[in-house]
Amino acid sequence: MYAERVLSGMRPTGRLHLGHYHGVLKNWVRLQHEYPCFLFVADWHALTTAYDDPRVIEQSVWDMLIDWLAAGVDPAQATLFIQSRVPEHAELHLLLSMMTPLGWLERVPTYKDQQEKLSEKDLTTYGFLGYPLLQSADILIYRADKVPVGEDQVPHVELTREVARRFNHLYGREPGYEDKAREAVKKLGSKRAKLFDELRTRFTQEGDQAALEQARALLDEAQNLSHGDRERLYGYLEGGGKMILVEPGAMLTEAARMPGLDGQKMSKSYNNTIFLREEPESVTKKIRTMQTDPQRVRRTDAGDPEKCPVWQFHVVYSDDNTKEWVQQGCRSAGIGCLECKQPVIDAVLKEQEPMRERAQPYLDDPALLRNIIADGCDKARKLAGETLRDVREAMGLNYA
Ligand code: TRP
Ligand code: SF4
Repeated sequence: MYAERVLSGMRPTGRLHLGHYHGVLKNWVRLQHEYPCFLFVADWHALTTAYDDPRVIEQSVWDMLIDWLAAGVDPAQATLFIQSRVPEHAELHLLLSMMTPLGWLERVPTYKDQQEKLSEKDLTTYGFLGYPLLQSADILIYRADKVPVGEDQVPHVELTREVARRFNHLYGREPGYEDKAREAVKKLGSKRAKLFDELRTRFTQEGDQAALEQARALLDEAQNLSHGDRERLYGYLEGGGKMILVEPGAMLTEAARMPGLDGQKMSKSYNNTIFLREEPESVTKKIRTMQTDPQRVRRTDAGDPEKCPVWQFHVVYSDDNTKEWVQQGCRSAGIGCLECKQPVIDAVLKEQEPMRERAQPYLDDPALLRNIIADGCDKARKLAGETLRDVREAMGLNYA
């Protein structure tokens, strides 16, 4: 039950750009080789802000999924799905909403920030306040312990931990909990029971993390434990009630150093992006017309790369020799700006070429992607259903 599992999601906000690639997708592509990964389109989350025009979401969902595949997310390794096709998220969200204090949600920094930032929209809605709790449900329903997110999302993962803790505290302590836990320890067999107790003491009294890991591994290996006893012992191990929901940790994704065409961070709202699957002619044109050091008016003027957005692209894309060539050539007026941009154009096109290739089959045959998502949703629903069964049982809602 305590499997290492990565979960992350993205709101469908339109075509993705190179900032998404360098900031998020490259990381996912790496993680998919290391852990079972569950990656999903958070279309309900998009609805919290696009509720007045929900029809735009659909196209973004499919475009974004093709962008993921183009970037190298591999459906044979990662499970890809769409949030609204796994309605279990909504049931867990509802149940969690019963025990989540309003203050916890009002305190989440993105709540006020986004309301101010998107002030043209009325975001004093029930759904928008619940945004981070829906995110908690997304995470907890897969008992995912690793959530790769950017810095702005860390408070949401923090809230998720608090919600899980509160849930386990409220519903994980059945009558006679301690006795039941002791009975379950005995079922491990005397040798392993003794080791378990030692490890538990080392963790609860000395905070020894390695002992905690080792004890969890011991429980994972124990074949003769029932599902309920295993949950009980996971919780008992840490000195709490049954561990029904798993507290996740944020895996901080390093902030993308990807500059936009104007030197600010690449972002749709600054209109300074290069799309992941943009046509080569269009990419070439965008870079050729990019702003350079404003002091360098004529070809004979020396320039300063530090004041030029093109240099920032060299930092991302060029090797040391090329960077040296830029520094020398710019400061001595030895090279022209178009000349300087050419290696950047070449590097971006080279990065994008395999992406366009990987996307093509999905553009040619939409059924391909529909099938991948249908499989992913099935797999996700199966896991989500198991958690929900335990949640209902813990809350006394499993009357049939
Ligand atoms: N709120 C996230 C974002 O805007 C998207 C998201 C929704 C998410 N549910 C999630 C991310 C669960 C990680 C885990 O980027
Ligand atoms: Fe920018 Fe390169 Fe022109 Fe210098 S030579 S101003 S770094 S584009």
